[in-house]
Amino acid sequence: MAKRIDVSDLDIFYGSFKAVEGVSMSIEPRAVTAFIGPSGCGKSTVLRTLNRMHEVIPGGRVEGKVLLDGQDLYAKDVDPVGVRRTVGMVFQRPNPFPTMTIRDNVAAGLKLNGVKNKARLDEVVEKSLKGANLWNEVKDRLDKPGAGLSGGQQQRLCIARAIAVEPQVLLMDEPCSALDPISTLAIEDLINELKERYTIVIVTHNMQQAARVSDQTAFFNLKATGQPGKLVELDSTSKIFNNPTEKATEDYISGRFG
Ligand SMILES: Nc1ncnc2c1ncn2[C@@H]1O[C@H](COP(=O)(O)OP(=O)(O)OP(=O)(O)O)[C@@H](O)[C@H]1O
Ligand SMILES: [Mg+2]
Repeated sequence: MAKRIDVSDLDIFYGSFKAVEGVSMSIEPRAVTAFIGPSGCGKSTVLRTLNRMHEVIPGGRVEGKVLLDGQDLYAKDVDPVGVRRTVGMVFQRPNPFPTMTIRDNVAAGLKLNGVKNKARLDEVVEKSLKGANLWNEVKDRLDKPGAGLSGGQQQRLCIARAIAVEPQVLLMDEPCSALDPISTLAIEDLINELKERYTIVIVTHNMQQAARVSDQTAFFNLKATGQPGKLVELDSTSKIFNNPTEKATEDYISGRFG
């Protein structure tokens, strides 16, 4: 189910501003890839090109290639809505649909895809909530609003919503930055379990988190404000944190800048 992503010569624009330049990398299936780097270097921007969310932004434009198991996500005949189903996304702030029940939050994507059978929906809701390690906490209140959950629970609800449509890749943009340490560990445990089935890319500002959860780490940097961000290096997480090839990576992870 998990798929590999191959990016080559990717340039990403907001109108005439080139935000990211010349990114080439491979993201392995059944593994966690962390994106790290200083604010503004383009981590979120690159992440959004992996499921064609970037082009939703006015002026958003991409040059280069993104292949999902060899298939060009930007080919003319590819439907971006289908891409977003295959490549799911979890955002920085938990964003459950506030007036919807917990059950409907998880089932929303399936209903959108035309699934109406109640038994089938219930089955997927339970499976997804179990997958997101939230089932035991919510099984007796499935018909209460999603907004009534704690921040950490809401983020796990968003993960349940994302996995309910059975994506092959899960993109997460700083999924723990609004969470307390206990909820953060719960999400990290979950990421560890999910990677057996999914390709996972996580943006994080937390170096310990990158070191804890990821198998490979990509370090992005930019020379100066107004310059495009670039991928400095991508390697196994232990190599990046213990013996990076580039001096800029070493400086960043040892806290000398950024
Ligand atoms: N919607 C937008 N319109 C115009 N420029 C944008 C937009 N979003 C981001 N940018 C610019 O693109 C560059 C990369 O931004 P991006 O948000 O990808 O950085 P980031 O690495 O995710 O930073 P952070 O760590 O602060 O989240 C920045 O110069 C930013 O100002
Ligand atoms: Mg960002």
